Amino acid sequence: MAPPVRPRFRAEGRAALEAELVLAGRGWVGRRLQPLELGFDGDGRICAVGRNVRGARRHDVGDRVLLPAATDVHVHLREPGPPEAGETIATGTVAAAVGGVGLVGEMPNTVPPTDSVDRLEEKEARVRGRAGVDVLLYAFPAEPRSVPSLARRAGGFKLYLSPTTGIETVPSGPKLAALLDALGQVDLPVVAHAEDPGLFPTGIAPTDATGWDQLRPAEAEAAAVARLLRAPERLRLHVAHVTVAAVARAIRERRLSFEATAHHLLLAASPGRDARFKVNPPLRSEAERAGLWEEFRRGRVPIVASDHAPHPRAAKELRFDLAPSGVPGVETTLPLLLAKVAAGELALPVLLQSACDRPARLLGQPLGRLSVGHRANVLVVDFRAVVRLRSDRLRSSCGWTPFEGSEVVFPVEHWKDGERIVEGGEYVGRPTGRVVRPEFAPGVVRPTPEDGA
Ligand code: NCD
Ligand code: ZN
Ligand code: ZN
Repeated sequence: MAPPVRPRFRAEGRAALEAELVLAGRGWVGRRLQPLELGFDGDGRICAVGRNVRGARRHDVGDRVLLPAATDVHVHLREPGPPEAGETIATGTVAAAVGGVGLVGEMPNTVPPTDSVDRLEEKEARVRGRAGVDVLLYAFPAEPRSVPSLARRAGGFKLYLSPTTGIETVPSGPKLAALLDALGQVDLPVVAHAEDPGLFPTGIAPTDATGWDQLRPAEAEAAAVARLLRAPERLRLHVAHVTVAAVARAIRERRLSFEATAHHLLLAASPGRDARFKVNPPLRSEAERAGLWEEFRRGRVPIVASDHAPHPRAAKELRFDLAPSGVPGVETTLPLLLAKVAAGELALPVLLQSACDRPARLLGQPLGRLSVGHRANVLVVDFRAVVRLRSDRLRSSCGWTPFEGSEVVFPVEHWKDGERIVEGGEYVGRPTGRVVRPEFAPGVVRPTPEDGA
């Protein structure tokens, strides 16, 4: 029997007296779960954190756990795009809300790509009144000279160094150098898809995930990252979907940011895995997957992101060579990792830093911690509520998941700006999602050691 817990902290600030709403539950405080109360003010911010917070209304979730909502820096919502693309800003952001994600970074490889100020404005208009969570829009820098004007409107940039969904030609040589120079002049995060197509072998006709791994090997990823690490110092580089520990280490040594996805952390390229497991960069061998997970478990992966690529189920049931690359995940990444916490395989602070705190800092948002002044974007989680993932219950319109049957813990509640948008695991929100841009310089994202809370 644990001894009674004595509070080692007090409600912060005068605003503690003025909370509109108090959420009472447990939270991660002082290296363990303890009773915790959060006060929300009338502007949808956290105004008090502690015990005995007073407020006009009180919502007690018992011994369930209060966590900051997650930020997913890598999501494809497919708008604008052909109707057969399936996902929309409306469906994808509701999926995010149910999966505990309160802000998504939306990628520009849409049809047409988000490569001009007009197209950014058009995408902003699509978000307004239709998004369940907030959206940051990345721009696609087709030409170095387009960078300054795009930077005044976009939330970040996405740079593709190899062909992938919707991307056929990629910059190299002097054009790439000029782009990196231009991107180094602006104060926005630059997310890079790092594979060097010059190192993709010829004469391979993949029929399963192992063949895809041979066609786009880890050496191609390492070479593209090495090129990016020679970019100007000022570039706010974030490498997307790193798949192997050696590449993770190379980026970390330079104190730059990168992400790993749930699929590269949890799934390997076993023989016979069909096109549902076809993704860029590819799933790797079981040994490489385990190595990446070990980096993550030790708190050495700064950010976890989904690379949500909601290709329709029918497209992913095509023959391997004909099917598109990419897997959905905005709705399942946090629930899969919360289940790893419930199973004792992952420390909660490691997850909170990589899924909530650091991604919000990369995107310059006052989010991701249960701190005074942060937005009241909060999840309520019951770690006993472990269930098996079923694709027919998912809100993403793609209708499938590569994690069918895996253990997951979905948030019971999700609060956005002090309003409940998920209740009993169901979306009950309104389309109040906004377009956001970095509110402060993202700075360098540094991983911290294993158990630092
Ligand atoms: C992504 C998509 O479908 O948009 N596909 C993928 O295989 N990861 C694009 C990308 O992130 O490369
Ligand atoms: Zn990519
Ligand atoms: Zn992507």
